[in-house]
Amino acid sequence: MRVLTTGGAGYIGSHTVLALVEAGHEPVILDNFANSSPEAVRRVSELAGREIELIEADLLDAPAVDRIVADGNFDAVIHFAGLKAVGESAAQPLRYYRSNILSTLNLLDAMQKHGVRNVVFSSSATVYGEAGTVQYTEELPLNAMNPYGRTKMHIEQILDDLAASEPGWHIGKLRYFNPVGAHPSGRIGEDPRGIPNNLMPFVSQVAVGRREHLNVFGDDYPTPDGTGVRDYIHVVDLAGGHVAALEALGDVRGSRAWNLGSGQGSSVLEVVRAFERAAGRPIPYVVAPRRDGDLPEFFADPTLARLELHWKTERGLDDMARDAWNWQSKNPFGYGTGEEDPEA
Ligand code: NAD
Ligand code: WQD
Repeated sequence: MRVLTTGGAGYIGSHTVLALVEAGHEPVILDNFANSSPEAVRRVSELAGREIELIEADLLDAPAVDRIVADGNFDAVIHFAGLKAVGESAAQPLRYYRSNILSTLNLLDAMQKHGVRNVVFSSSATVYGEAGTVQYTEELPLNAMNPYGRTKMHIEQILDDLAASEPGWHIGKLRYFNPVGAHPSGRIGEDPRGIPNNLMPFVSQVAVGRREHLNVFGDDYPTPDGTGVRDYIHVVDLAGGHVAALEALGDVRGSRAWNLGSGQGSSVLEVVRAFERAAGRPIPYVVAPRRDGDLPEFFADPTLARLELHWKTERGLDDMARDAWNWQSKNPFGYGTGEEDPEA
């Protein structure tokens, strides 16, 4: 399939583009590099052994999106592009609603107009919010707790409404749990700008000496060691989940949500220990107050993806830590040199 991958230069997109090529598909990247670098595309091309087609464009530019979809001869779209920082979304809600929702509307308009009816969307476990249970199944009501999460929830609803409005749509909504790790080559990985919001990239930067210590946000949660528990998923497993979803779309009438997670929770301190083993050095940390809006514990019920996508995770926490460390130690400043961002 010829697949338009919006946000394909980003963290999850770049790994998925490689997985698509490996599965015999033909991805085309659309990205505006708002949170990524052309170097990622160059490296994916190098790993794939062929030039990946790249279109530099902003999804907020509706006429450009219309032209790209009209001319692209695409069989399907995987829609990664969007903004994803929870804290920033609370400070700049309009920017988040505009970026995530308006860009999706532009894309869907163009797809509808030009007869592309297959789409896989990057949703998030964050759409469940406080669910009253720790293991999330897809039937739980959506209850996102911050503007970022609400953009994902609203886009899911828009996709459902679109699917219900006319026959012929095949829509997969992938609810990712906590993606971490990197390609085992150490050539592509996660390269956050500024101070990382997420645990594993922060730990990686402590290990490589860019930050002094980790702040563990709370050690008095009702969990086995008191720290937050999440379902970490290796980004290469996650990339494979996209290929599986794309290939299963033909069986979807309308829209369908799948959790992509391992079904296993790990605590903050378990992540720290795994990273210490991988890097062979201590990760200094201090216990800090809880972070606003954090839940104590949640993880996926991945049964539906196993049954319907014939997909499950294969890599564990030690693999995630090993590959994250391999990437970070070979690229201490990600795709850059450390000169670009004084805050980093
Ligand atoms: P990322 O920031 O690395 O990738 C997103 C890409 O989209 C970037 O390359 C960025 O430049 C591009 N982009 C943003 N706005 C754009 C626009 N208007 N036009 C064109 N390109 C644009 O993020 P990621 O971690 O790879 O996440 C990919 C998707 O998965 C996002 O939608 C994110 O919300 C979702 N998601 C991520 C996580 C996570 O923890 N990483 C978890 C759940 C869901
Ligand atoms: C994991 C655990 C923290 C940083 C977020 C988004 C979610 C999704 C994935 C996009 C928690 C603790 C973290 C640190 C810490 N993204 N922690 N010190 O919060 O589960 O999910 O990313 O869709 O929407 O909310 O992931 O990696 O930020 O935190 O102690 O410096 O690590 O409290 O328990 P989270 P995370």
